[in-house]
Amino acid sequence: MRLLYEGKAKRVYETDNPDQVQVEFKDSATAFNGQKRADIDGKGAVNAAVSARLFAWLEEHGLETHFLEQIDEQNLLVEKLTMIGLEVVVRNWVAGSLNQRTGLDEGTPLDVPVLECYYKNDALGDPLLNDDHIRLLGLASPDLVARLRQEALRINQVLTPFFLDRGIVLVDFKLEFGWNRDGALKLGDEISPDTCRLWDKTSGERLDKDRFRRDLGGVEDAYQEIYRRVMMTAHA
Ligand code: ADP
Ligand code: TMP
Repeated sequence: MRLLYEGKAKRVYETDNPDQVQVEFKDSATAFNGQKRADIDGKGAVNAAVSARLFAWLEEHGLETHFLEQIDEQNLLVEKLTMIGLEVVVRNWVAGSLNQRTGLDEGTPLDVPVLECYYKNDALGDPLLNDDHIRLLGLASPDLVARLRQEALRINQVLTPFFLDRGIVLVDFKLEFGWNRDGALKLGDEISPDTCRLWDKTSGERLDKDRFRRDLGGVEDAYQEIYRRVMMTAHA
């Protein structure tokens, strides 16, 4: 299989079908724009399975994603998309860079979700963009930005109760969208403990990549705990 692209967390391969690609989830992890690196045992398998489950759940709730099927432990078959060069972040609680940007305490609930768009550009460190910057760079029209915001909010409305039923608070998460060959807008990339902040509802324990970013220890255990809870079929 021909490798089309190798990123920090995944490899993308060509398949026999020009409209489909295979995405391999790696165990390697990076933080702070690639400055910090390590392997997290089992991360690839957890992120592949969690993403597959969440994409399927979103599809069941009428949201369009690139997901087609899980091939094996670390590989998903997805629709090939032309990616929009934006990272759309949805926040339900203050954490991470929103804490740093505003000084609001981490763990403050947000009455209305906060949405942000970041420029997917490693060389610039993925900076935050406002609507004029997005227009200036030609990344998306104002109408498309409005559509991305609406999609992201709908995804939040479906994922928040999914996690809460499993004793997890969905604090914030990052989404990437793209276009398929027929011109349909689809959610792409992944939804996993790498791209979400997930806190235990009772203890507040961090069950996501912040354990790696902040050297909190217990990284592998946190990923396995998310895997276990996300795969539960019956609601807790
Ligand atoms: P990064 O590029 O940030 O290092 P990854 O290691 O996760 O990230 O690489 C995966 C790449 O594949 C990302 O650039 C992402 O935008 C892209 N991608 C995600 N879903 C699709 C898709 N369905 N079709 C084509 N590319 C995709
Ligand atoms: P932030 O608070 O660091 O801006 O992160 C917001 C959310 O986006 C958090 O759930 C982690 C996720 N995220 C990514 O998926 N990729 C990234 O490169 C960064 C910085 C954050």
